Amino acid sequence: MKPTIRLSQEQVDAFHRDGFLAVESLTSPAEVAVLREVYDRLFSRDVGEDRLELAAVDDEGRETLPQIMNPEKYAPELDDTQARANALAIARQLLGPETERAGDHAIMKPPGHGAPTPWHQDEAYWHPGYEHAGISVWMPLQPAVPESGCMQFVPGSHRLPVVPHHLIDPDAHALEADDPVADEDAVAVPLPPGGCTIHHCRTLHYAGANRSAEPRRAYIMGFSVPAQPLAERRDYYWQRPEWHD
Ligand code: NI
Repeated sequence: MKPTIRLSQEQVDAFHRDGFLAVESLTSPAEVAVLREVYDRLFSRDVGEDRLELAAVDDEGRETLPQIMNPEKYAPELDDTQARANALAIARQLLGPETERAGDHAIMKPPGHGAPTPWHQDEAYWHPGYEHAGISVWMPLQPAVPESGCMQFVPGSHRLPVVPHHLIDPDAHALEADDPVADEDAVAVPLPPGGCTIHHCRTLHYAGANRSAEPRRAYIMGFSVPAQPLAERRDYYWQRPEWHD
């Protein structure tokens, strides 16, 4: 598919200034409806190790933050969407023509008991032996508001180095930045279905618990320029040894 979107210079400048950007419409309502069906089907089937728990189960044994890695392996139709064509076009505008896909995932926040996604920088999960430049395009498939767990960002935090993180729970996979973020430093970004936020891999971000009556479905597309090996590997002591071979 061909892209149908192009960021204005103002939007490009805002991304580089703030480390994030909101776009009201990445794709059509018709495609969002199709994607919701694909998404719900994915979460109702067994995808083995590609399903990870980002947060621990609750007191009643319910999942609170399930994630599916590489969802296109199970639903190849996800490879050919208007949303993806537009997200790639945006990524190339922001990071340059070398930019390629760098992995997708889907995060589901169950209604009523979906856990918060802790404050973190995505690069804290990545290989510490490389120089990275990447973005994530985060698209909700229903309205996203603070009460349902829309994205929140700290403007300008993409200029920070990777800060120390820790695992939030020994049984879960989510990392949290050690230093707490003050409420007044955070900007919440509500979105309509099929809109998106775009954030840099060092931008501190968070999404609250889902207190709404509907699952908070988010589809996330990653893009990066080829990573360059560093002369000296950084020490990301918070990572699980099995994350990188
Ligand atoms: Ni993240």
